[in-house]
Amino acid sequence: MKIAIFGSTGLLGKALAEKYKENELKLFSRTEIDNKQKFVIDYMNIENELENFFDNWKPDIIINTIAIVDLKYCEENLKEAKYVNSIIAESLAKVAKKYNAYFIHISTDHFFSDSLKYHNENASVKILNNYAETKFEAEKKVLQEYKKSLIVRTNILGFRYSKKKSFFEWLLFALENKEEISLFNDFVTSPISVNLLSNILLLCKKSNLSGIYNISSSEAIDKYSFGYKVAKRFNLSFENVKMRKTIQSDIKRAITLGLDVSKIEKALNIKMPTIDETIESLYREYKKGKE
Ligand SMILES: NC(=O)c1ccc[n+]([C@@H]2O[C@H](COP(=O)([O-])OP(=O)(O)OC[C@H]3O[C@@H](n4cnc5c(N)ncnc54)[C@H](OP(=O)(O)O)[C@@H]3O)[C@@H](O)[C@H]2O)c1
Repeated sequence: MKIAIFGSTGLLGKALAEKYKENELKLFSRTEIDNKQKFVIDYMNIENELENFFDNWKPDIIINTIAIVDLKYCEENLKEAKYVNSIIAESLAKVAKKYNAYFIHISTDHFFSDSLKYHNENASVKILNNYAETKFEAEKKVLQEYKKSLIVRTNILGFRYSKKKSFFEWLLFALENKEEISLFNDFVTSPISVNLLSNILLLCKKSNLSGIYNISSSEAIDKYSFGYKVAKRFNLSFENVKMRKTIQSDIKRAITLGLDVSKIEKALNIKMPTIDETIESLYREYKKGKE
């Protein structure tokens, strides 16, 4: 299969590229170039630029993982956040439609702040910051542009293998080095490992799913309890980890982000991973990296 991945230097983009390496890939980013598989393009002129690639190499799947995920940066740079999180997504949906490719747009779970533990795809959305606003706008623009797109609401964990540590890398580093850290016991998510998510996205393509789907672990867990489970599985001490509550800072953020996965489980006729299965997948990757 021919798969084009946008944002291939990121946490998810890198994992997808590794998982799908048996396929014909084109990987797009701002920095990595080898002119065989990895390409840098001008994102201000994306639709024209991509004609040079896709007129002769029609992708079966286009995946958009591009985003500015830094909440503070999005608050301070709304125009840029809109461009990167929403306009690029819309342009890629147009491109996918033009080449009749299956389009997967990665969205977020940052849309809720209520007393519900789990949110299905119809749960009412509450926008608290520019990140959420621009990501929500992207969902609407992508579906307006290309109805057959798959929009994935998720929360991801994995290894970014770059200077900027992912949450999971930060947590593991702190546990391994017995650093004193605090984890929130009132910030709840349904995280899935990027490797498990990569497998499920291919099943979505096989079943030709379109519209909005929650694809995450089947359980919701707070960060403190998650950290405890990680320490146990990795056989590390949890002694230096303090429990704390989220504090209201200048950037408002949603804190009850649990996702209800019944729609995707029904559509694919499989179970989404539990939190333990997600941690096991991260443990396997960690061990592989250590070999
Ligand atoms: N991480 C999470 O916890 C989380 C949770 C829920 C949903 N998501 C969603 O999952 C997707 C992937 O997230 P991630 O954690 O993999 O993000 P990431 O590691 O920060 O990677 C983001 C990618 O976007 C690219 N990018 C950023 N600004 C750009 C710009 N101005 N022009 C072109 N490319 C740009 C980055 O390229 P450079 O390497 O050049 O910067 C990178 O390849 C995003 O849609 C995000 O909203 C993430």
